[in-house]
Amino acid sequence: MPKTDRLNPDKIRANLKTKRIGREIVVFNCTSSTNDVAWEYAKGAENNGVVIFAEEQTAGRGRAGNKWFGGKAQSIICSIVLLNSRFSPDLLTLTCAVAVAETIGRCGSSEAKIKWPNDIILAGKKVAGILLESKANNDRSDYVLGIGINCHQRPNSFPSELQPFATSIDIVSRSVADRISLSKRLLTSIDHWLKVAEKNSRKVTAQWRKLSIQLGHRVTLVFNGTQFVGNCIGIDPQKGLILQLDTGGVRMFDAAHTSIAKSISGQA
Ligand code: BTN
Repeated sequence: MPKTDRLNPDKIRANLKTKRIGREIVVFNCTSSTNDVAWEYAKGAENNGVVIFAEEQTAGRGRAGNKWFGGKAQSIICSIVLLNSRFSPDLLTLTCAVAVAETIGRCGSSEAKIKWPNDIILAGKKVAGILLESKANNDRSDYVLGIGINCHQRPNSFPSELQPFATSIDIVSRSVADRISLSKRLLTSIDHWLKVAEKNSRKVTAQWRKLSIQLGHRVTLVFNGTQFVGNCIGIDPQKGLILQLDTGGVRMFDAAHTSIAKSISGQA
């Protein structure tokens, strides 16, 4: 890790052009989960757009009750407070996935891609994940958008059961990432794509389609405990993944009740 890579709020904020996302940045050396801290901030209406970073989490969580492993000073671990939002959770997840994939971009010969709904894949393995949590607030919602990006991990940094599926930017790029620049790019990209989504959500889904590893491929998924197999023919920002089912018919699967069992090349 370069010495300058240590997360620092002033360095992340320096020359950051965003107005809403990252208007205040807080960095913890160690916390349970940045999502928990962000929910504390979410109690104050003035904290819309605050971003909580941490060098380490002791109880980082992922989707579907999974744990999220980061290691100390190895990742970008952050949570963004979004208050009083009109976004649907599915559109917000897609928007964030596009922004995170764009932030990671191309590493060597590999481009970061999206595995619906919220996994970012680099060279066939997961490099980043997004955990969106919400609370209804009258006709709107308060959200905490948690993002974990693997940066400096080596293959054996991950628990052995995750090693076949997990990677980091450093592994794929064969260099050493700068987490300060990446954090700036991340906040800028999220700010940008949220504005795009507010104006025209079709632009977000169009970009999502370009980055999807599943569109046009066979997908096996589990919805409410039942397995479905088919060809992925589209994505709907409100209703989720659209499959032409092997058993006939077209069906939509929303992110909240669906987990992907297999996608291209049998990748988990
Ligand atoms: C997933 O892929 O299952 C989602 C992983 C999300 C991890 C991030 S790290 C920052 C934030 N704090 C957490 O406890 N989780 C999210």
